[in-house]
Amino acid sequence: MMRRLPWPAPALLAWAGAWLVYAALQSTLGPLAAWLAACFLGVLASLLATPWWRRLAVAAGFPLSCLMLWGPGGLAAISPWLWLAALGLLALVYPLNAWRDAPLFPTPADALQGLADAAPLPDGAAVLDAGCGLGDGLRALRGQYPQARLNGMEWSWPLRWLCALRCPWARVRRADIWLADWSGYQMVYLFQRPESMGRAAVKAATELPEGAWLVSLDFALPGVEPSWQRQGPGRHSLWVYRMPLGGAGEAVVHVPEPEETPYEKALRELQERR
Ligand SMILES: C[S@@+](CC[C@H](N)C(=O)[O-])C[C@H]1O[C@@H](n2cnc3c(N)ncnc32)[C@H](O)[C@@H]1O
Repeated sequence: MMRRLPWPAPALLAWAGAWLVYAALQSTLGPLAAWLAACFLGVLASLLATPWWRRLAVAAGFPLSCLMLWGPGGLAAISPWLWLAALGLLALVYPLNAWRDAPLFPTPADALQGLADAAPLPDGAAVLDAGCGLGDGLRALRGQYPQARLNGMEWSWPLRWLCALRCPWARVRRADIWLADWSGYQMVYLFQRPESMGRAAVKAATELPEGAWLVSLDFALPGVEPSWQRQGPGRHSLWVYRMPLGGAGEAVVHVPEPEETPYEKALRELQERR
């Protein structure tokens, strides 16, 4: 069930569960044993989370909140107004729907090495970094395609402004990547989250023109074999798909029926119709 909940609900549930266990066991087992039991629950819950940074967030949430409350200079002493201001700032940088899709993880400078050879583009081709954050993905794309027309879309206002400052050569606007039209782009680059990839596959299959590319850092499209894929440098993997999805050189791989999401179903139906 935890795996099916939208992020960050699993983390909030795990942290609340750990606090409940701590409160319930404190009087019978004593504070230390209750604290250890609550930490153990957090670690158990973290095993259900992917990728690694969510696992870390789930496991570390309870001990970190204890540290914040009881640690040196106890943060509990801080005025509620400061907490409210910090929360307001967080909501501004990360509006809720961007939070659910992917938090801010920048593309490492060398993560797209070799992309221009694997997915060549003509000069002046329109390229979109969908969810461009602070612009690191745009910078890496520029390294590969210096002659391309680079575009960024970002949901968070402050990130959009900062990105435009860092990438004055790109056209950066605030937009929801799932509502925007992708049909004018020859390449869409994504660095989102595993759960978004079914949706991305359907959007690419219906909107991107023939010959265009969908490039994803770290997360594969479900049920579609990539035209090109490579591991590293570092721990990142790159997935490259040419349109139409499931066309020559891209075999549709088996999608187990019980696990099929609505997006995967829509993608399969599209491919079957073709
Ligand atoms: C993992 S970061 C990647 C940032 C950038 N593409 C890079 O690679 O450096 C994902 C970004 O997507 C943005 N995002 C998430 N959902 C979005 C949506 N529906 N519309 C626009 N931006 C979104 C987030 O705010 C975040 O900045």
